[in-house]
Amino acid sequence: MAERVVTEAHSHVHQHVHAHPHEAGHEHHPGELPRHPGDGHFAGGAAAIEIRHLHFRYPDGLEALKGIDLSIAAGEKVAVVGPNGAGKSTLLLHLNGIHEPTHGTVQVGDAVVDRSTIREVRARVGLVFQDPDDQLFSPTVFEDVAFGPLHMGVAESEIHDRVERALAAVGMAGFERRTPHRMSLGQRKRVALATVLSMDPEVLVFDEPSAGLDPRGRREVIAILRALPQTVLASTHDMRLVADVFPRTIVIDGGLIVADGPSEVILADDELLEAHGLERP
Ligand SMILES: Nc1ncnc2c1ncn2[C@@H]1O[C@H](COP(=O)(O)OP(=O)(O)OP(=O)(O)O)[C@@H](O)[C@H]1O
Ligand SMILES: [Mg+2]
Repeated sequence: MAERVVTEAHSHVHQHVHAHPHEAGHEHHPGELPRHPGDGHFAGGAAAIEIRHLHFRYPDGLEALKGIDLSIAAGEKVAVVGPNGAGKSTLLLHLNGIHEPTHGTVQVGDAVVDRSTIREVRARVGLVFQDPDDQLFSPTVFEDVAFGPLHMGVAESEIHDRVERALAAVGMAGFERRTPHRMSLGQRKRVALATVLSMDPEVLVFDEPSAGLDPRGRREVIAILRALPQTVLASTHDMRLVADVFPRTIVIDGGLIVADGPSEVILADDELLEAHGLERP
């Protein structure tokens, strides 16, 4: 029972799961290729994230990812940029198994993401959706932030501490008894981050962490992201956020990685930026 809660509810995928049950990893896609049976689910000595030959086709036939290869070392902070529809969100949703590859593999640490590892993967990878309302569903901030650790089996005696630490990390200490849906967007985004920090993940994945925030909210998010010790992968259209937080940038367009390198190099390449609908910070 707890497992269902963790794998379905806590990943807070309501919208995705309910809107697109076939992409949610609960059923086999008719066209899905079998994954090398026998090569086992765990491999040793891995990068924090290792993606090989990742293709993903939505059920309507659209191929959103067309062969992504990406290796991210532990502790790296990597931005994913690219025009609307490039495949950024689709890529990020593979990191905790919301989408399953049509072809290729996604590995987090030593675990290849698939049904047999999903519980472990979701304990390791905290995914923060663009819209905090996809992540927050409890009557109080405390309950939302306590949800993950509770359902991961963390001892009750430790829950309070976990919640306090996560809320302090995002500057939301004191908001425990507030109702998330009555808070501002910036506050809800911070609490949404706390709901995954409380699970002590090794990897944090953000879909547009600064979208919709006012300048102060943006600066606060930048400070929070910079302070995170975890491996961080985030999609964004905010080039100043990229410059301020992420030493490495990946440009995606048309379901392919078209550039991958130091952010200062990528952000100075006007031709590249223009070719992919981006602009200098
Ligand atoms: N549920 C879906 N069913 C079918 N196609 C989809 C679905 N979600 C996204 N797509 C398509 O997949 C492609 C990649 O979309 P995705 O949301 O990953 O882009 P993105 O880079 O995150 O864009 P944005 O900057 O607008 O957030 C687009 O062509 C999009 O129309
Ligand atoms: Mg997106």
